[in-house]
Amino acid sequence: MMMSASTGVVDREFHVFRGSPDENGEHVGEFKSYQIPVQPGWVVLDALLWLQAEQVSDLAIRWNCKAAKCGSCSAEVNGLPSLMCKTRLDHMPVDQPVMVRPMRTFPLIKDLVTDVSWNYEVNKKITPFTPINDDQPSWRYYQEDADRVQEFRKCIECFICQNVCHVIRHHRKFNEFAGPRFLIRLASLEMHPLDKADRLKFIKEEAGIGLCNITKCCTDRCPEEIRITDNAIIPLKERVVDRYYDPITMLLHKIGIM
Ligand code: SF4
Ligand code: SF4
Ligand code: FES
Repeated sequence: MMMSASTGVVDREFHVFRGSPDENGEHVGEFKSYQIPVQPGWVVLDALLWLQAEQVSDLAIRWNCKAAKCGSCSAEVNGLPSLMCKTRLDHMPVDQPVMVRPMRTFPLIKDLVTDVSWNYEVNKKITPFTPINDDQPSWRYYQEDADRVQEFRKCIECFICQNVCHVIRHHRKFNEFAGPRFLIRLASLEMHPLDKADRLKFIKEEAGIGLCNITKCCTDRCPEEIRITDNAIIPLKERVVDRYYDPITMLLHKIGIM
């Protein structure tokens, strides 16, 4: 590590994954070592953009806003799924290399860029907002109802929660589980006071909410600090249990009262 006293620039070692997918989208490649002159205040994305501009012009990185709002620069930094534009280098030990690799859960496109299109396919299966009062002029509802779903609207679709969830990452339940990001979307629709669609059967059978065992890894890594498990998943689980496993609610639903 070398430091310039006048500018505060520090030469730091980065290990960056370089590779391509095999025929199944598996990540095939290796970590390559680079020395990068890191300026005070830089985030990981700053360093990689410097590397791309100055030394490795074919390094593939996806980013757009550099403001932690577009959700496109997700990767794994020192083993932790993170937004590269929100991960400050001065919060990491200077005497150890910074390891950057693509999100492991999704098929690789190149280097640090993965194919997250599966998420958009899941999204298409969700019944969209269906207003109860389409033919009435009033869209008024209580502030407390707005507050409850507002948290879920902060999602930037970075898919870090999808990447970290063991049901998808390790057990590969792509066909049976929608993942935390879409359980959030389902919660925001189910809790909306002006929505009339019933998505509980979908939540139980296609979104696979029973596969979530509330480990909270998704909540721990969400850059928007959405309380995914406590505020979205657990309330949805309760609704599913009430509908499908509580005998009185089951009966009322069957005869059309609920
Ligand atoms: S709490 Fe559920 S959705 Fe979140 S990471 Fe754990 S198993 Fe996945
Ligand atoms: S819930 Fe959080 S971690 Fe998941 S996609 Fe949205 S912002 Fe990203
Ligand atoms: S570049 Fe937009 S979230 Fe990082």
